[in-house]
Amino acid sequence: MIKEKTIEVKVQKTSNSRIKELDFENLYFGKVFSDHMFTADYKNNQWGDAQIIPYGPIPMSPSTSALHYGQAIFEGMKAYKNLKGEVSLFRPLANHKRINISAERMCMPPIPEEIFLEGLRKLIELDNNWVPMNEGSSLYIRPFIIGTDEFIGVKPSDTYRFYIITSPSGLYYNRPVKVLVETNFIRAVEGGVGFVKASGNYGRSLYPTKLAQKKGYDQIIWTDAQNHRYLEESGTMNLMFVIDDVLITTPLGDTILAGITRDSVLTLARDWKMKVQERKISIDEVINASKNGSLHEAFGTGTAATIAHIAQIGFENINYDLPEILPHSFANRVAKELENIRRGRVKDIHKWMYKIL
Ligand code: COI
Repeated sequence: MIKEKTIEVKVQKTSNSRIKELDFENLYFGKVFSDHMFTADYKNNQWGDAQIIPYGPIPMSPSTSALHYGQAIFEGMKAYKNLKGEVSLFRPLANHKRINISAERMCMPPIPEEIFLEGLRKLIELDNNWVPMNEGSSLYIRPFIIGTDEFIGVKPSDTYRFYIITSPSGLYYNRPVKVLVETNFIRAVEGGVGFVKASGNYGRSLYPTKLAQKKGYDQIIWTDAQNHRYLEESGTMNLMFVIDDVLITTPLGDTILAGITRDSVLTLARDWKMKVQERKISIDEVINASKNGSLHEAFGTGTAATIAHIAQIGFENINYDLPEILPHSFANRVAKELENIRRGRVKDIHKWMYKIL
């Protein structure tokens, strides 16, 4: 349970709620936004001015530094409502830790825990009727920080704004995905910013993804910058493979985002005494395993994507189909267990859920 913290949050409620327009039965990902948003400002070397205001356009000078040099970072997290109407966040402290890792790498001031958590608590308490209850849906939460100096010299901004917006959302992928192994473009290099949630990491992925989508794929799999042989992550998620009975995923490092869902899946696999290997995995290994029948599962993990089955992997003009997804597959089992933890249907032994109301 997140305890009420001492920071003062000014609240300006909307006089025109849009909740009646929301169709809870037909939710897409990230298309509609709840009535309110949270903001806090950083100036004179400290965070303050925490407030909740109606969701809406943000006035901004054309010289705002974030627009020019990409000093912008974000998080993705979710709130769930159980059958009793209680609302909980999944692992918010992990998101808080990660946004501050991103902040450090992007020369931005860390956001204090009490602003991060109290902003979430108050905002979701106010917009609690926007949190969906249906299986597979949730309130997707997007905290983000941008540099706000009105200055176009290249330097870290002296002022920042932290926002939290929320979006009742359904599944990011509503069917198993087809992915293309990318061997031309590069997402991240050693020493770069691939391990943080910097907005620019996603902007640079759009063009290669668009080319892959033109060929009929949903997403790309990034490969290492040197040889394009080792699999890194997919556009919106970390990658996992089950080869024989071993769960294999790329180890964390400069080029890999430390996914919170990734960590949760690995933790559950270890709880279940499954053999887990965090090691480099090459496309050759995956193709050989596909050919000899030892590749049983491939899936992505992410907050938005949750557990996304991979149906087909394209590499050098050949498509490799994955076996049919069986109900007792590891990916299905772990997806179900995560949903049960989030909905409070099984014991939360790792204390991942933070009840907010
Ligand atoms: C998330 O999974 O929360 C992400 O941030 C990935 C993507 C939607 C940008």
